[in-house]
Amino acid sequence: MTTTTTTPSDCVHKARTAEITYKVAWQKNDVQINEDAINIWMEMGAIKAKSQGVPRAKMLCVVAYDGKKLVAVSTIGVYPQEQTMVKGSHFRCVVRPAYRKRNIATELALRCLHTTEEWSKENPSFKVMNFTITIETQALFPKCRKPTWHGLVNFIGYTEQGLPVYVYWYKHAYIGDEQDPDYSFYPSGAPGASPVGMLQNGM
Ligand SMILES: CC(C)(COP(=O)(O)OP(=O)(O)OC[C@H]1O[C@@H](n2cnc3c(N)ncnc32)[C@H](O)[C@@H]1OP(=O)(O)O)[C@@H](O)C(=O)NCCC(=O)NCCS
Repeated sequence: MTTTTTTPSDCVHKARTAEITYKVAWQKNDVQINEDAINIWMEMGAIKAKSQGVPRAKMLCVVAYDGKKLVAVSTIGVYPQEQTMVKGSHFRCVVRPAYRKRNIATELALRCLHTTEEWSKENPSFKVMNFTITIETQALFPKCRKPTWHGLVNFIGYTEQGLPVYVYWYKHAYIGDEQDPDYSFYPSGAPGASPVGMLQNGM
């Protein structure tokens, strides 16, 4: 198990999170963290049986402990990001009720962003280009009045279900595939899309 190194956000929020230890679980398959995470998901009703937690544990990214007690977990799902039509790292998290509003979810998100950016850079064949947060809880909708979070993550639109979507582009990201002769970005739109973006005079 590894504790992440200090980042600028640690310094800003140190007072509020000093007793919390953050651990990177991404791609480690750490038996203890997996077990703790499955227990927290059971307790919080996210899964009905422990067996359902096994595939979910493979997606663990950064977790937060208060001593030996796991207090928050985050997962990353790697799959296409609907609006941008590239593969993204999709962030989700849950924080124990007693530990909410102490900046823990924010720390998890920022640490997952950096962890997955490094991983994506080291694994270019997976072609993962961005870090995505879909806001699934109404509690955070007031925060969605701001289009940019922490100068990193930007609002890009809504899912079909009307949920706000925020994206951070990895520094090494690119859009489209130079090798694909059919690829055209503007003004015809993304590959396979209808030319809704075309100007009326045909430009
Ligand atoms: C949503 C959840 C992850 C937030 O965790 P948290 O650790 O309390 O969040 P943070 O303390 O990092 O707060 C993040 C921001 O959201 C705001 N926020 C958090 N909970 C809020 C609430 N209930 N109402 C209004 N704003 C809230 C904070 O003020 C903060 O805003 P800021 O960055 O402008 O200061 C947590 O409540 C939770 O686990 N909920 C159940 C599962 C869930 O909904 N997961 C997320 C799906 S998107």
